[in-house]
Amino acid sequence: MLDLIDKEKLPKHIAIIMDGNGRWAKERDKDRLFGHQHGVMSVREVVEGCSEIGIKYLTLYAFSTENWNRPENEVKGLMELLVATIRKEAESLSKNGVRLHVIGDMESLPEYCQVELQEAITMTEKNDQLHLVLALSYSSKWEILKAVKEIVGQVNRNELRVEDITEEVFRNHLTTKDIPDPELMIRTSGEHRISNFLLYQMAYAELYFTHTHWPDFRKKNLYEAILNFQNRERRFGKISEQLY
Ligand code: FPP
Repeated sequence: MLDLIDKEKLPKHIAIIMDGNGRWAKERDKDRLFGHQHGVMSVREVVEGCSEIGIKYLTLYAFSTENWNRPENEVKGLMELLVATIRKEAESLSKNGVRLHVIGDMESLPEYCQVELQEAITMTEKNDQLHLVLALSYSSKWEILKAVKEIVGQVNRNELRVEDITEEVFRNHLTTKDIPDPELMIRTSGEHRISNFLLYQMAYAELYFTHTHWPDFRKKNLYEAILNFQNRERRFGKISEQLY
């Protein structure tokens, strides 16, 4: 599989909606957290897989704004799992040239979570082999509203004129301002939705859906998605003949 992938035509940024942990656990008569725990293995697989093949940016939707509405024990379990994973993996991420970023409302996370994340962000800040972006307490509607409020504030203070609001100005107010737009979005577990994830940034992303539940997702599934991406014709509004 790996040798079929054209290393010259890799998507620069892959974004993943890691779905199906709960269903995977239910099929095994276990509680939802059991599914999340096994999902961590898949996180490791995709980080390694992206690193090995030369993908520069990987964004994982780990916790959405809406996920705060889940049962309290699941939210607490997810936060603890996140912190335990970061603590366990930070050194290895650092050694392997991975730089950690967080997008989302980081201030809404529990204090101990913010501290652990900030440490790992600082520890890896000089790396640039693979940028691992965790979307935590993230939603596109939250992000877009935040950008609008910041821009309106600048206009009100006469720091910016309405006619000077360009796409570039707008994107500089998004949490992804230094990150290129994703070219490939993968969602596991059979749902065909974007669920409030990188809506603005995914304007031209190729969408790939698989029935595999997240805890079963392995490098070969990642490579399958990349191969599928490479066999698509990306026209960006043009016609076929204009591309070649
Ligand atoms: C979606 O499955 C999964 C999540 C909301 C959480 C993903 C978290 C992890 C894989 C663990 C920690 C992550 C990192 C980055 C260390 P679901 O619960 O919505 O599944 P369901 O749709 O089957 O109920």
